[in-house]
Amino acid sequence: MGKMPKISFVKKIPPIEVPPGANLMRSLLDAGLPVASSCGGEGICGKCRVRVLPGASRPSDPEGLTPIEDKERFLIGRYNIEAGTRISCQAQVLHDVTVDTSYW
Ligand code: FES
Repeated sequence: MGKMPKISFVKKIPPIEVPPGANLMRSLLDAGLPVASSCGGEGICGKCRVRVLPGASRPSDPEGLTPIEDKERFLIGRYNIEAGTRISCQAQVLHDVTVDTSYW
């Protein structure tokens, strides 16, 4: 089996390993971290946003996440979400990634 992608944090939270393609929000919840949400991961509320820190390891894929698709693009516009922030229920983890929220 290949290397499992690792989700790292800025605060004092131990990193977690997840299967490639794991949903980011689900992975965080499974690790016991709270993720703001009022739609339960349906891609409606935009509250599950997390800040993604740029990683140096893969220039072609600096975030380590699947690219932004239509539903997420809509939410980013609708809720005026700044660059470098992803809707975690709409992103899958492909490679190592570092994330943060204001409430952790
Ligand atoms: S949990 Fe509502 S948009 Fe992600």
